Amino acid sequence: MTKPEFIPYKHTRHASDDEMLNRSKTFYDIMNTRRTIRQFSDQVVPRKIVEHCLMTAGTAPSGANQQPWKFVVVSDSKAKAQIRASAEKEEQEFYSHRASDEWLDSISHLGTNASKPFLETAPILIVVFEEKYGLDEVGNKSKRYYPTESVGLATGLLITALHHAGLASLTHTPSPMAFLNNVLDVPINYKPFLILVAGHPAPDMTVPNIKRKTLSEIAEFR
Ligand SMILES: Cc1cc2nc3c(=O)[nH]c(=O)nc-3n(C[C@H](O)[C@H](O)[C@H](O)COP(=O)(O)O)c2cc1C
Repeated sequence: MTKPEFIPYKHTRHASDDEMLNRSKTFYDIMNTRRTIRQFSDQVVPRKIVEHCLMTAGTAPSGANQQPWKFVVVSDSKAKAQIRASAEKEEQEFYSHRASDEWLDSISHLGTNASKPFLETAPILIVVFEEKYGLDEVGNKSKRYYPTESVGLATGLLITALHHAGLASLTHTPSPMAFLNNVLDVPINYKPFLILVAGHPAPDMTVPNIKRKTLSEIAEFR
């Protein structure tokens, strides 16, 4: 057992109610312009920007502070081509056999299919892995607590940080994703969580005309 140690915490974001009202509305306005895009330009993204966004992701809360996430940033064209080829193979299976009619029906409004050119066009693919269990050099396993919830939170922060910085993203989950461990040589205790495709939108691209639920549909005040 580790003895707890405490340090002072300065809540530097403290502000008046008016200022917080202003901040919360401004931030909502920024985030309400986020959309998942599926057509990317090949414009390069400076690495430092991605680093800051990943550092933001790394500030997420996590079960027992185990920070069970790993982000592999892929910009190498050969690696991207390999990921595209493997993902399209799985997606081909998904769209033609694996997905139920109900599933296909629920994504039909997105106009997606097995073709994933963005996996090569976009400047970066951030492959998010979830550490399912710890694994030391001699093969001893250790438990992770709430790794899925924790990685989901970190990924949300990453998407938010990318959007806030001015980049667009696509949450991509080719099904199944085990090929990512092989292609990226990542140990098996890390399970692929999703691929976050990031970069700038292609000129004149379009997005599905979807609606977000209203506040009263998603929240209750009791
Ligand atoms: C867990 C998860 C998996 C997703 N997987 C895919 C995917 O494989 N391909 C895709 O085109 N979009 C995928 N999406 C994006 C959703 O379709 C998109 O978020 C949704 O339609 C809402 O659109 P918006 O992000 O523009 O608000 C995924 C989103 C989430 C949260």
